Amino acid sequence: MQFAGFSLRNALFVAPMAGVTDRPFRQLCKKLGAGLAVSEMVTSNALLYATEKTRRRTDHTGEVAPISVQIAGADPAMMAEAARHNVDHGAQIIDINMGCPAKKVCNVAAGSALMRDEALIGRILDAVVAAVPDTPVTLKFRTGWSRENRNALNVARIAEAAGIRMIAIHGRTREDKYMGEAEYDTIALVKSRVGIPVIANGDIDGARKARKVLDLTGADGLMIGRAAQGRPWIFREIEHFLATGEELAAPEVSEIHRVCREHLLDLYEFYGEEGGVRIARKHIAWYTKGLVGAHDFRQSMNTLPTVDLQLAAIDAFFGQQAARDARLTYAQEAEQEQLITQELAA
Ligand SMILES: Cc1cc2nc3c(=O)[nH]c(=O)nc-3n(C[C@H](O)[C@H](O)[C@H](O)COP(=O)(O)O)c2cc1C
Repeated sequence: MQFAGFSLRNALFVAPMAGVTDRPFRQLCKKLGAGLAVSEMVTSNALLYATEKTRRRTDHTGEVAPISVQIAGADPAMMAEAARHNVDHGAQIIDINMGCPAKKVCNVAAGSALMRDEALIGRILDAVVAAVPDTPVTLKFRTGWSRENRNALNVARIAEAAGIRMIAIHGRTREDKYMGEAEYDTIALVKSRVGIPVIANGDIDGARKARKVLDLTGADGLMIGRAAQGRPWIFREIEHFLATGEELAAPEVSEIHRVCREHLLDLYEFYGEEGGVRIARKHIAWYTKGLVGAHDFRQSMNTLPTVDLQLAAIDAFFGQQAARDARLTYAQEAEQEQLITQELAA
């Protein structure tokens, strides 16, 4: 895919996920087939630029281009300043968050809460586009504020008029949060009415679903979030299926073990030992979701305080899985595992 002068490997994007799409995860997804990975959102509040969290979120050392950084906020001047600040710190694409229903964001009327105020949306987009004239600006939003107020088409038109170069739409309203199923009709409608690229997002959990969403929406690309947690190779699986119509074989235990291990090493390096071990736990829970013995494994994992102990436990667990079968063996309690994982992510 060609986008704003960047040549992307494909049109499969990693959805921005606070607490998940840090630099190690973005790098991993890109290595395993994603064309673009959007950073976790960065606040537009300049008072918080110096906090460790924000500094880490704006550390793009060694990141594969193009570097897309998401900013969140509701004040046009602050958003403009945030865009400039992030471009100065290496962002090559600025993405604006109008899709996140998290309380922390919505309490200050940012994220998807902005969908309610179309005039303000216009002011924010104009300000950001003007602030970084040489940098493409993209926008991520939902289908509307509520099911009665699906104003995605209005927002898309405002975006196009403001000079936004690409939009990503999550097929739920703000009120839906993550409940129910994503719908794709609104995305299809928007795609048929605007000239800028449209990326479809929501509940894409595998290659066949990816094909279906592309067919239903006519979108220019797909954005995948939760399904990539613990399964970053989903991008190469979708890429292969879209190109050939054939499903790639699931990775072998040995490869998953290697991917997980390398991911953990990156996390330790990025966050330091204490932070890395803590952040790694949720990724380990996702990598092992639904596997035989994963429940007990996860409980003991959460008590291990050091890198050495965590790595040794991972090696032992995947060693047992490999002894059982070259491919992973899933337990009956898969559904239960999923609930636990969602809790961990919340
Ligand atoms: C843990 C988590 C954190 C998220 N953080 C953000 C965020 O920072 N910015 C944003 O625009 N969307 C955020 N989202 C929404 C996702 O980008 C995506 O739109 C949503 O999960 C639907 O896609 P999916 O069904 O492929 O997961 C987040 C979602 C999750 C699960």
